[in-house]
Amino acid sequence: MTEKKDREQWGSRIGLILAVAGNAVGLGNFLRFPVQAAQNGGGAFMIPYFIFFLILGIPLMWIEWGIGRHGGKFGHGSAPGMFERLWKNPAAKYLGTLGLFISLVIMIYYTYIESWTLGFSFFSITKMYFGENTFDSMRDFLYSYQGRSVGDFSSILTSYVFLLITFSINFWVLYKGISKGIEKLAKIAMPLLFIFATILAIRVLTLGTPDPSQPDNSVLNGFAFIWNPNFSLLSNPSVWLAAAGQIFFTLSVGMGTIHAYASYLKPKDDIALSALTTSATNEFAEVVLGGSIAIPAAVAFFGVAVTTQIAMGGAFDLGFVSMPLIFRQIPFGEFFGFIWFLLLFFAGITSSVAMGQPVIAFLEDELGMSRKKAVALLAVVVFVAVQFVVFFLKYGFLDEMDYWAGTFGLVVFAFIETVLFMWVFDSEKAWEEMNSGGDIKIPRIFYYIMKYVTPLVLITVMGWWFVNDAIPTLLLTKAKPENIPYIWGARGLMVLICIGLFFLVKTAWKRKEVEQII
Ligand code: PHE
Repeated sequence: MTEKKDREQWGSRIGLILAVAGNAVGLGNFLRFPVQAAQNGGGAFMIPYFIFFLILGIPLMWIEWGIGRHGGKFGHGSAPGMFERLWKNPAAKYLGTLGLFISLVIMIYYTYIESWTLGFSFFSITKMYFGENTFDSMRDFLYSYQGRSVGDFSSILTSYVFLLITFSINFWVLYKGISKGIEKLAKIAMPLLFIFATILAIRVLTLGTPDPSQPDNSVLNGFAFIWNPNFSLLSNPSVWLAAAGQIFFTLSVGMGTIHAYASYLKPKDDIALSALTTSATNEFAEVVLGGSIAIPAAVAFFGVAVTTQIAMGGAFDLGFVSMPLIFRQIPFGEFFGFIWFLLLFFAGITSSVAMGQPVIAFLEDELGMSRKKAVALLAVVVFVAVQFVVFFLKYGFLDEMDYWAGTFGLVVFAFIETVLFMWVFDSEKAWEEMNSGGDIKIPRIFYYIMKYVTPLVLITVMGWWFVNDAIPTLLLTKAKPENIPYIWGARGLMVLICIGLFFLVKTAWKRKEVEQII
């Protein structure tokens, strides 16, 4: 047993909680969630959402904290080494590669989206978009910023500069390490994020009826729009799948990032309560704050019909088109716009550093690299890969990566880890691991949920997704013909990343064998 004593550690309990909450609270809470809720039956969406929170979200949190802290005891900060501790089989480490792959691929496109939020907070305070007064012209502003078309921005340069800034801050934080980088960032960014979100939610609540000649366009109707349940939609499986997908994405489960953070715990640190606290914090940020800003504000200003269209246009239209159009109309709009986008930036960066950590931990722990080298290598890979996302954005490059890594991959990884921990490693041992050092005792019913319900639900969701979405996506049935070469490009890139990671895992274990012989 190679017990390593020199691993980094979290500085304080509150720092750790804020860091994991920062990992979970992200763009998903403020942009993805309101759109998902509005598209999938409003209040009725909350029924499958909370059911999946209880049978998938919370159990997976405990499982991932458990696997992570267990792996950390043996010096493993990433899934390949952790899985091998659960299953003494040469295949285990290769299954764990998925935990590197998913977080890395998400990091590649997420950092780019995050950089838009920084750009837009700058455009808010400088009132750059305040001249755009229609949806079309605001969308043109966004598209020309993204380099999809020529308009307010004659080139992609501005966007590229914000990407470079965002990229540099991310890697600087990662370079500083767990407690001096990630934890410190969370201690500053998370409280600010909550303050900004609360200010915005209060501002939205007090919007009333912005245009008295349009009495239906009120914030009250906005809340009704997002929360009034449409129960007839519950018989539609796609609503259930959307709810499961949102739970995964928002809690950051099924990706390998929670494991990495948990691996820096001390063996006797609590996980039972910490996992619960961070999940609850995420849900508060998502349902209470995330549900009270963008959608209700859009209804108050543009009415239900237009908001429905915006929501169908997706998370970016809601965040980067409809919100700016509101800010330009309200007093101190430049200030509210500034904190809205800065809030998104803080939410984003505390998540994107988490996506970088598994690969860094892998390079350090399994290949013996220094932190500096590991961070540099990851930076090069992300930097090269993000170029494709930037320049091929309009051809669906980002969406393809988001589908395979950010949607489908999570469920597959979650299924593998649940089976490994609760069945292969042994459920009693797993239960003890999750409870040891705990400030609370996990209710026993979760033992049965984790052992039977969670894997069964996961395999059902996986199967359903595979048939309904993955096969049609794979066969490009819904793709625009002009995008097809780029979609293949995105797939090629992902395959390349996957092969690269397999190769690294193989090399790392070869190296260990040689070390053992010596
Ligand atoms: N949970 C984050 C969000 O809601 C996204 C995320 C994905 C974070 C992967 C870490 C890893 O935006």
